[in-house]
Amino acid sequence: MISIENLDFIYPSGNHALKSINLTVQRGEFVAVVGRNGSGKSTFAGVVSGLVRPTKGAVFINGINTKSKSRFIELRKTLGMVFQNPENQLVFEKVRDDIAFGLRNLNFSDAEIENRIEEISKIMGIEGFTDSFELSMGQKQRVAIASVLAMNPQCIVFDEPTAMLDPKGKKDIHNIVVDLHKSGITVVYVTNVIDEVLPADRIVVIENGSIKDEFKKQELFDNIEKMKSFGLEIPLIMDLLYTLKQKGIDIFVNKWAVNDVADNIYAYIENIKGHINV
Ligand SMILES: Nc1ncnc2c1ncn2[C@@H]1O[C@H](COP(=O)(O)OP(=O)(O)O)[C@@H](O)[C@H]1O
Ligand SMILES: [Mg+2]
Repeated sequence: MISIENLDFIYPSGNHALKSINLTVQRGEFVAVVGRNGSGKSTFAGVVSGLVRPTKGAVFINGINTKSKSRFIELRKTLGMVFQNPENQLVFEKVRDDIAFGLRNLNFSDAEIENRIEEISKIMGIEGFTDSFELSMGQKQRVAIASVLAMNPQCIVFDEPTAMLDPKGKKDIHNIVVDLHKSGITVVYVTNVIDEVLPADRIVVIENGSIKDEFKKQELFDNIEKMKSFGLEIPLIMDLLYTLKQKGIDIFVNKWAVNDVADNIYAYIENIKGHINV
């Protein structure tokens, strides 16, 4: 789906923000990108989504080079991007104008646009939203995602989409991302909220503009010390199990949703009870 080859990006100021990046994202994957502030995550998101051109190397989306001018529209339809601040993404006063914007540019008919707005609004739970300025940041982020979804993309790049939201907004948006991935959309998810990496298939660590490491979901728990050495937090639920493990309580977990972990802890306790006959 996405192939990044020997990518470098240098800002006009001379800041060498991305260095020798190679990464492939398969169709249907959920890849989380983590790293400290200033490590290059937003630059990476911009280049991957084709909004910014690589200084060196190339990014291919379904085999199409993001530099290709003749296939620009095809690229825009295939891949969308959601920014940290929804206010940078929404330009109109009326919610429906923002959702319709991309479709109008692609010369969809009014009837098609109406249908699409209705369909997307239902999916995103924003049917009652009319004026952007009346919305909370979390609601605005929903509209921003809706405006991207209207193009029916195969892939969405998210750049810290929950960073500016209150706790409920963060949870809402993150759940929406997980649902979109379940519906088949390929997700590249830049975050510094470490708990948000848990649904990802792979976690890519960026430091000083380079990919420093990459963990599969199943490998994360065994690489906690390494994650810490990158200055990353550990997902709370993993930290709990890791701390228990250091105390000699080794609970096997293969899914990190609270329910699954609770089931495993319960099974562990039941097993002990069986052995000591309480
Ligand atoms: N428009 C810009 N011009 C010059 N340097 C920039 C610009 N935007 C970001 N940078 C620099 O590029 C590096 C990576 O920034 P960024 O991609 O925003 O990191 P992150 O999203 O991980 O915080 C930083 O050193 C930052 O100061
Ligand atoms: Mg950033």
